[in-house]
Amino acid sequence: MITSNILRQKYLDFFRERNHTIIPSSSLIPDNDPTVLFTTAGMHPLVPYLLGAKHPGGVRLANVQKCVRTVDIDNVGDATHCTFFEMLGNWSLGDYFKKESITWSYEFLTKVLNIDPKCLAVSVFEGDADAPRDETSAKVWADLGIDKDRIFYLPKKNNWWGPAGITGPCGPDTEIFVIIQDKGCKEKCGPDCDCGRYVEIWNNVFMEYNKDSNGIYKPLDQKNVDTGMGLERTVAMLNGFKSVYEIDIFTDVFNLLKESCKLEYNDKTIRGMRVIADHIRTAVFMLGDEKGITPSNTDQGYILRRLIRRALRFARQLEISSTILSDIAKIYINVYKDVYTELHENEETVIDELEKEVKRFESTLQQGLKEFEKLLKYIQNSRISGKAAFRLYETFGFPIEMTQELANDNNVTIDMEGYEISAKEHQIKSQAGAEQKFKGGLADTGLKTAHLHTATHLLLASLKKLLSPDISQKGSNITAERLRFDFNFPRPLTIEELNTIENMVNQGIAASVDITCEEMSLEDAKKAGATGVFESKYQDIVKVYTIENYSKEICGGPHASNTRDLGKFRIIKEQSSSNGVRRIKAILE
Ligand code: SER
Repeated sequence: MITSNILRQKYLDFFRERNHTIIPSSSLIPDNDPTVLFTTAGMHPLVPYLLGAKHPGGVRLANVQKCVRTVDIDNVGDATHCTFFEMLGNWSLGDYFKKESITWSYEFLTKVLNIDPKCLAVSVFEGDADAPRDETSAKVWADLGIDKDRIFYLPKKNNWWGPAGITGPCGPDTEIFVIIQDKGCKEKCGPDCDCGRYVEIWNNVFMEYNKDSNGIYKPLDQKNVDTGMGLERTVAMLNGFKSVYEIDIFTDVFNLLKESCKLEYNDKTIRGMRVIADHIRTAVFMLGDEKGITPSNTDQGYILRRLIRRALRFARQLEISSTILSDIAKIYINVYKDVYTELHENEETVIDELEKEVKRFESTLQQGLKEFEKLLKYIQNSRISGKAAFRLYETFGFPIEMTQELANDNNVTIDMEGYEISAKEHQIKSQAGAEQKFKGGLADTGLKTAHLHTATHLLLASLKKLLSPDISQKGSNITAERLRFDFNFPRPLTIEELNTIENMVNQGIAASVDITCEEMSLEDAKKAGATGVFESKYQDIVKVYTIENYSKEICGGPHASNTRDLGKFRIIKEQSSSNGVRRIKAILE
């Protein structure tokens, strides 16, 4: 049996032997990225490098990246969807291109994983007005021995990846599928058919374009390779499992779930168990992340809240005690203890926060469900009013998506417009907005965000100087309009303190200091007094950005070149972010 540990190891060894630097998984929370809530692919943290910045690890990289995608949350419960997954990836930053990338993928699959080449099918880009037909990739596949009738030319819809957001690096891809014999259509079909005969396991993207804000695909000077292979799906396929939930990672969790659920084992109970197993795994990774988040009503915290509450609702449906959720969390922490050490290091917080959220919701879940049942009796035209849906949220803590799901199950709808109005009236940040952001993709790494990024460094330096040298970054999110910075501090800042901080940052700006960047070993960076948030995660060579006399931080960039470009710094809000963590929002005018 090929376990997930074995697959990770074999993959990284293979690319290490081919001169790739193995880089650590980045946090699930993207740095300075206004348009995504979570890291959804291995390439996200690498965008600056795909666009030409020099990566300290060189031009060949590989890793296993923690990813969260919640767009498919409603499909969780079937055989293949998970909200958390690991992506095995290898990258060429302007180094090797199609031939090497495809050849290595083929070698890894057929020689290391011993997949019969006859079971492989591939797709390549058929070409359109933006980019030519990818004959090069097709030829490499044919030369490797893939029969012509297993090489499919498909349009942009299938064979183009990115940009992850509105703008950014993208390009044609070649996707690799394993053909599941005896499955799917009797007629001859291709990988664009969803009959289940073709299981996609690897995607090699040839990132040779940058899509700009006018929708124009401009060739990149640096031609990159970005590949991604889903770990869970590949392990399932290699073992002939029908569902990803049969792989080793889930074994103990399902044993516990089966033991605890006294209901008959049928499609409905299996679905519920998968939802619980999936959502708690994702919650553990969010809570235990190096930039650990906690349940809240906005952004990432809201998604986390939704996951935990949904898991709890399914546990209740399966008549399983809610205490099982933290037992499941402990199993995952143990399963991943050697791979994602942060989970083990943050175990106490993970369990504590999970239990707190369970307690918070458990007390109102049952009452809320009763309220929902009552609603069903009185509604007209099978439609729940926005006000009623909002009351379920406000009084019983029902995330709107949960109410929508309940409504669906009961064949009624919700007046969402009315809900938004009620929510706005109560100044609750729209969760739909958060979802939008999640779907949106990558940031525009423009000048404004670079300036705000530099302002963030000045802000941290000022906070440390004025309040305490123990202050460190707990989170950072930058849009083109504002920066948002979270840091550890036990109480609200006074008006005087906020004014002083503002002045200190503005003095740094007025001093017209150059921002310089150096690459050095982590050791040297520490010796030089650089601050870094996730030091244990950094590879040997790191980038250090210095604003002389003000700040020295380990950071990926990008930054302004001189502080005078920043304009005027103004704090617009100071508030609590979570226990012991304050949040400052600020703008540059
Ligand atoms: N970025 C591509 C994907 O997510 C390949 O890594 O599929």
